Amino acid sequence: MARIIAGVSSSHVPAIGAAIDNHRTNEPYWQRVFRGFERSKEWIAKAKPDVVIGVYNDHASAFSVEIIPTFALGTATEFGIADEGWGPRPVPVVKGHPELASHIAQSVILDEFDLTLCNKMEVDHGLTVPLNLMFGSPQEWPCPVIPLAVNVVQFPPPTGNRCFNLGRAIRKAVESYPEDLKVVIFGTGGMSHQISGPRAGLINSKFDHAFLDNLTKNPKKLAQMSHMEYMREAGAEGVEMVMWLIMRGALDEQVDEIYRFYTVPASNTAVGHIILENRRRVAGKAKPSPASKKPAAKIKRAAAGQKVHRIRS
Ligand SMILES: [Fe+2]
Repeated sequence: MARIIAGVSSSHVPAIGAAIDNHRTNEPYWQRVFRGFERSKEWIAKAKPDVVIGVYNDHASAFSVEIIPTFALGTATEFGIADEGWGPRPVPVVKGHPELASHIAQSVILDEFDLTLCNKMEVDHGLTVPLNLMFGSPQEWPCPVIPLAVNVVQFPPPTGNRCFNLGRAIRKAVESYPEDLKVVIFGTGGMSHQISGPRAGLINSKFDHAFLDNLTKNPKKLAQMSHMEYMREAGAEGVEMVMWLIMRGALDEQVDEIYRFYTVPASNTAVGHIILENRRRVAGKAKPSPASKKPAAKIKRAAAGQKVHRIRS
């Protein structure tokens, strides 16, 4: 059967995409950001997912402001590139996995999550920036990607609790897919930021660190956080972090934190990134995977050596 082996969360700041596209990644300002993802690229090259489920939000690229679905699942064979601001990025077309996507739709909708199904859809930096951060800039993305667009642009977005439970339903769906596939789920957006109004430029590192701690150890606490709390503590656009809870809901209750990176700022946003692995299941019980433990320690040490802003082990 298919299984979700790990979750990755990452900010999807559009300026990161522009830095890649304009060959500015070696400038000191951007080096600080990109170095934090070097070990992540090594990790995912070893993990070799067969499919990525990419949870992100559309920025009026695919849906404009006329139609805004709360949850939109990409069931197409491929997804063209579009974007706001700097325009479509010069990145490969995103190839989908229509069979698994349709299976997820069937399972999740029968579990009473009313997804919008997109048989044609374009994707923007919300999805493509995290793909670059994890996979670099290849000619083609190394595996199919199933996009799941979440409305966090126009209020009301879904609650964190709804997102967490949707993640659980996605996990159930994946685990009932007969083909033996390794799936990694991405949650994107955040961390704290506000792009307009009197509080424009707000960054709350204390909140971000606590969010990362709870994402690993106590996600149910985060699932209870109200939109008002996100806005008050993490800025108006900080509410994007409900998407990280879809990723977390799709994982085991107990996970191994493989890697974490946090830096401020990129553009006007705090950049956060975390990799969580499900524990290997033996005879129905989850236990830490020795195979994943050692590389984890290596990754963390290496990160410290590179002077990335890693919060804690
Ligand atoms: Fe965004």
